[in-house]
Amino acid sequence: MKVFITGASSGIGAALASEFAKRGACLGLVARRGDALDAVEAALPGKHHTYVADVTDTNALISAANAFEAEVGPIDIVIANAGISVGVKTEFYEDLAQFARVLDTNVLGMAITFHPFIAGMKAARRGTLVGIASVAGVRGLPGSDAYCASKAAAIIYCESLRVEMAKYGIKVVTISPGFIRTAMTQKNPYQMPFLIDVDVFAERAADAILAGVRYQTIPWQMGWVTTLLRWMPRWLFDRLMANRKQKPRVSSAP
Ligand SMILES: NC(=O)c1ccc[n+]([C@@H]2O[C@H](COP(=O)([O-])OP(=O)(O)OC[C@H]3O[C@@H](n4cnc5c(N)ncnc54)[C@H](OP(=O)(O)O)[C@@H]3O)[C@@H](O)[C@H]2O)c1
Repeated sequence: MKVFITGASSGIGAALASEFAKRGACLGLVARRGDALDAVEAALPGKHHTYVADVTDTNALISAANAFEAEVGPIDIVIANAGISVGVKTEFYEDLAQFARVLDTNVLGMAITFHPFIAGMKAARRGTLVGIASVAGVRGLPGSDAYCASKAAAIIYCESLRVEMAKYGIKVVTISPGFIRTAMTQKNPYQMPFLIDVDVFAERAADAILAGVRYQTIPWQMGWVTTLLRWMPRWLFDRLMANRKQKPRVSSAP
């Protein structure tokens, strides 16, 4: 099994790398920080390949994908996991650049990651494309304007792609993590219900990916929470969210 994972230098990507390596996969790992990526790779059983690249750089991702395929042959699973989450407020001019960065990484970066593999998967009439979305894509949370918009876009993008790819024998799996213990959630100033460890998440996510499910929220308890939130009347949602603590704006960081 050959698996390509972006955002593999920490958190969910590193845990997925470890989980798939344990299951015997040969991995192509992508992130911007080469040192962190090498440390992840060094701790894995088996031989793998690392590529220092930014998922917003189309040519760099095409090069990484081509290099990995040249080394190991056709790829079975591509996991577009790289993502960023920062507080953004539309009223601040300087936050607009952060807004663009979040959308570029979390949405366009996903399409850029999948793009180089689709022709090969179509020819083979098999393969799985995995988008790591978020429960934050279900309703708009105050202060997370960009992140929520990006994850809502990622969910809908993966759905479009799923229907489109099905006729070529390619599966598209959307995984929506709830709250997972990683660097991304470390400084969240609000309560995180059903928070789970990243290795627990990775094991469940790998099972879902290999089963080819269309959409899965992990942990399942957050699936019920998001179903409730999705159907909640707007007046009640607004009241519940009005005083929710917010992720700090990156632009206001010292
Ligand atoms: N943790 C949670 O509770 C949670 C919940 C819902 C969804 N998610 C999603 O899960 C994914 C992973 O998050 P995480 O919690 O594991 O966060 P994390 O520990 O901060 O990891 C993010 C990873 O993405 C990589 N990355 C960021 N921007 C990149 C870029 N432009 N190009 C290439 N790689 C990039 C980072 O590596 P470099 O800095 O080395 O590039 C890092 O490996 C994200 O898509 C996130 O939105 C997480």
